[in-house]
Amino acid sequence: MRIGDDVDLAARILRDGGVVAIPTETVYGLAADATQPDAIARIFELKGRPRSHPLIVHLAGVEQLDGWAGELSRAALTLTQTCWPGPLTVVVPRGARVIDAVTGGRPSVGLRVPAHPLTLELLQRLDTGLAAPSANRFGHVSPTTAQHVANDLGAGVGYILDGGACPVGVESTIVDCTTEPPQLLRPGAITWEELATLLGTPPAAATGPARASGMLASHYAPRARVVLVNSPAEAEALHTPNSRIIGDVDDLATYAATLYAQLRAADDAGVDTIIAVLPPAAGLGHAIRDRLGKAAAPRP
Ligand code: TXA
Ligand code: MG
Repeated sequence: MRIGDDVDLAARILRDGGVVAIPTETVYGLAADATQPDAIARIFELKGRPRSHPLIVHLAGVEQLDGWAGELSRAALTLTQTCWPGPLTVVVPRGARVIDAVTGGRPSVGLRVPAHPLTLELLQRLDTGLAAPSANRFGHVSPTTAQHVANDLGAGVGYILDGGACPVGVESTIVDCTTEPPQLLRPGAITWEELATLLGTPPAAATGPARASGMLASHYAPRARVVLVNSPAEAEALHTPNSRIIGDVDDLATYAATLYAQLRAADDAGVDTIIAVLPPAAGLGHAIRDRLGKAAAPRP
């Protein structure tokens, strides 16, 4: 396994049907050419992810939507034009280039244009989209550095394109634009409040069976037990030598950007309990609370 910033090499491996870990502004992704079924199969194998869980296809720009998306609703047009490149995934009717292996046979596809200079350069060199889930083992904490990817997936990944630490730190907001009003499937750095403003109406809560794997109760879990509290004082009261407190509640952007690194660091330090302070339920606080809730949920 190699780590570096060679975009040419990454492009070559991907064209040849290989798998490359890529940096995005949210978390690292495990990418393959979205049109090559064998390459897609390798992603599911490496992650240990059930094949019915659909992957997000990453594109170079809004002008690449042709072929990947079917007819776009007004909401999808507004969100893609306003938020891309950026931490937003839209679920839209799939276009002719989308294969069943990517969507688990669904009639819809998740699309996003990531805001990371290295990965945008890579996408611009390729004449295809990149299917990429977060580059972690299924159900574990997402990686926000190249080293996290190496620790999780090791030799299975041929190349890790190192773009530094991911500045946002939590996975993209997912909005299902195939429903009216659109549904928020996963909260992220494009907030509920921003979506309500952009759409002119608040997005609905997700309904029906869990469609996003992030909608499963237990997900994003470190090895240590996670206990949630509502204030730093409450956290201090529970603190023991075998526990660690996390929670920059006064700076939510930093809390999100360092959340997964802090969960991993606590595991590396061997503590048995992580005491996490919940941020207020507003703005980016929704995404942090969502991931912490899943990290703290009973494990299967
Ligand atoms: O920030 C991100 O979105 C990162 C980076 C790498 O782009 N990717 C990511 O991928 O978080 P993943 O596979 O870990 O999560 C994608 C979520 C899954 O929960 C999946 O179920 C949902 O997107 N998804 C993808 N396509 C979908 C579709 N057609 N309908 C409903 N959910 C979909
Ligand atoms: Mg994931």
